[in-house]
Amino acid sequence: MLRTIFNKAATPFLLVLLFLTSNAQEDRPGDYLPKEFHAGRRAALREIMPDNSVMVVFAYPTRTFSNDVDYFYHQNPDLYYFSGYKEPHSLLLVFKNKQTDASGNAYDEVLFVQKRNAKAEQWTGRRLGDEGAKSQLGFQEVFNGEEFRKFNIDFSKFDKIIFDHFPVDVPASKTDSADLFHLMQQFKEKASIPEDYFKESRFDTKLYQELTGKLREIKTPEEMDLIRKAVEISCQGQNEVMKALKPDMSELEIQGLHEYVHKKYGAEEVGYGSIIGAGDDGCILHYMENTKTKIGNEMLLMDVGAEYHGYSADVTRTVPATGKFSAEEKQIYQLVYDAQEAAFRVLKDGAKWADAGAAAKESIAEGLLKLGIIKDKKEVGKYYPHGLSHHIGLDVHDRGYSSTLKKGMVITIEPGIYIPSNSNCDKKWWGIGVRIEDDALIRENDYELLSSFAPRKIEDIEKMMAEQSVINNFKLPPLKSTEKKKAF
Ligand code: GLY
Ligand code: MN
Ligand code: MN
Repeated sequence: MLRTIFNKAATPFLLVLLFLTSNAQEDRPGDYLPKEFHAGRRAALREIMPDNSVMVVFAYPTRTFSNDVDYFYHQNPDLYYFSGYKEPHSLLLVFKNKQTDASGNAYDEVLFVQKRNAKAEQWTGRRLGDEGAKSQLGFQEVFNGEEFRKFNIDFSKFDKIIFDHFPVDVPASKTDSADLFHLMQQFKEKASIPEDYFKESRFDTKLYQELTGKLREIKTPEEMDLIRKAVEISCQGQNEVMKALKPDMSELEIQGLHEYVHKKYGAEEVGYGSIIGAGDDGCILHYMENTKTKIGNEMLLMDVGAEYHGYSADVTRTVPATGKFSAEEKQIYQLVYDAQEAAFRVLKDGAKWADAGAAAKESIAEGLLKLGIIKDKKEVGKYYPHGLSHHIGLDVHDRGYSSTLKKGMVITIEPGIYIPSNSNCDKKWWGIGVRIEDDALIRENDYELLSSFAPRKIEDIEKMMAEQSVINNFKLPPLKSTEKKKAF
């Protein structure tokens, strides 16, 4: 094709150029949120901020994992949403009204970032720096964090200073006066923030929740692209595991299979600790130890959500380890399925969110009563002890504000029934824990089931589990170290 367009002499040169440019672009994902998205979110924020106000958004603290090793760093989703900046020790100021600097330039946002440092970058990774933040994130006013101390700003002139509660356990560096701890100290001094700031309406943490919640609860088309991907990847994980599942597998191994599939499709993280619980383990709502070495013949609850470019899915499937539901497992599963269907029927723009919760709860209460597992519908909370639903997005339990469902929201629908051993009911039900969790986009007159890629119906699950997985061909040799126990 190239040869038909360009003459022969120019071809080698063009090919080299093409290789250099395409190589630079193609060996990283090309679908990160564009800087225009973040700029658009700041503009939308300014629209709803009150007059003469400033909003201050800090990065999340870093956390020690072990000695001099940190946990993988996760940015404060609010800061990422409004800036696209992913590094720690940073803050963003957004002003409702234009401000003027000493040279007479107007600005309405300022980003303070980590300073570039060749030595630090050799050890812990590349930094964007102030120049990178200008060119790649599109900010006009960017400074290194150490410049915040002398930054000329009179906070006393604002009617509202809007910020989130300060985290209590921010580590303080002995050598870096521009770490998050010091940036927060400097902000408190500059803005004369009292200890009991939450009692003064001028220092408005409630408004922070309201503004960020109102924006983040409605997803933009750019966000939907990433959420759809995170959800589909999570469903692919569920499907592959359903096909590969064997009773002699361990919970940890199953977690690894899910997360391998996520990473194969480019999801960098999980949005929360993966929950892989067989039998009684599945009755612990946020079980994350995943230590059972053989799942055996029990029901297996798998609540696993891929995080793709910051956006988290939240998908649960509960399946029989043998591939076939027993009569009791079928009955409990069907109740949860019916509760989900009852909730789905409520979903549309303008519906009361609480009505979906009530529909699911009533459906489960009636079902448990019919099976004789409870004697009174009021006992339903014993076996269905959690809520139905939450937003997903940059947080798996994403920020929101409205009690009414709105077009563009993405929420989970996740009823469950958990009957641990020794419950006060016939022991044929013991050890059955079922949650079915799906992710739904609210539309004007109904909803879209984003997680429809993974089967939910009993017969569809059994059909999927009868298939062979590519993972079944993935055999590892036994470990030599477990063959014989040697002291040294
Ligand atoms: N995975 C946590 C939840 O379902 O909310
Ligand atoms: Mn959930
Ligand atoms: Mn979940």
